[in-house]
Amino acid sequence: MSETAAKMHEAASAVRVHTRLQARVGIVLGTGLGALGKEVEAETRIAYSQIPHMGKTSVQSHSGELVAGRLGKTPVFVLEGRLHFYEGHSLEDIVFPVRLLKALGCDTVILSNAAGGLNPKWKLGDIMVLDDHINLPGLAGVSPLLGPNDDALGPRFPDMSAPYDPALIKKAVTAARKQKLQLRRGVYVMVTGPNLETRAEYRMLRNLGADVVGMSTVPEVIAARHLGMKVAAFSIVTDMCIPDELEEANIEKIIATANKAEPRLTRLVKALVASL
Ligand code: HPA
Repeated sequence: MSETAAKMHEAASAVRVHTRLQARVGIVLGTGLGALGKEVEAETRIAYSQIPHMGKTSVQSHSGELVAGRLGKTPVFVLEGRLHFYEGHSLEDIVFPVRLLKALGCDTVILSNAAGGLNPKWKLGDIMVLDDHINLPGLAGVSPLLGPNDDALGPRFPDMSAPYDPALIKKAVTAARKQKLQLRRGVYVMVTGPNLETRAEYRMLRNLGADVVGMSTVPEVIAARHLGMKVAAFSIVTDMCIPDELEEANIEKIIATANKAEPRLTRLVKALVASL
């Protein structure tokens, strides 16, 4: 067994001391989106500190717990609290929670994040299902798969022609329509952070073809695809990043916008999970 596979197994065994829940779906909650976890009827809550090889979260809005429970009728594992590259975590640590989900038996992962809106036709609080991403060197360009490939986990050159599962996107679109909820669909570009971007950078990112910009998600998506998991991801537009009318960024405002949009995203994810 490879070192990473052994770590995944060890972490999963530690979780299994606390829960026998069998779940195919894992959910990773982003900044300001912790309350989606409260919708989950929790059977067990396990602090990351009790799980070997799980990094420590440092963002205030992230608690760092694995929740085993049910969202509606569907059994799920929820990761409340993610690790970011800008916190100085290694990519291996950032993607470990997703690898743990795989070791626990999940084949589908749903991720959420707060992101800046680059598409001028969109507005604050909009929800976007990710159709694609941009992960270029100099923006973030961080691959958790750098170095020798771990063949126990997946292929050397994992395909990224459709990182976000088209069937899941379709289901999300259908679920949104049924709820009369407006759902955007577009491209997420990952940057390193933690500083926000300049006006010139936002202009460049928009010109590159991105609809939203954020500091997370992409490493986890790559690791999940490497493992052959199906991925769906959602962004909440928490601040508008239109170069010619840019306001000073305010993290409290960003979190408040995420919190306000959260009930809509929660309803959507709930309906999506129910349709799987
Ligand atoms: N830039 C990068 N990440 C973000 C932003 C942003 O403007 N807003 C929320 N996350």
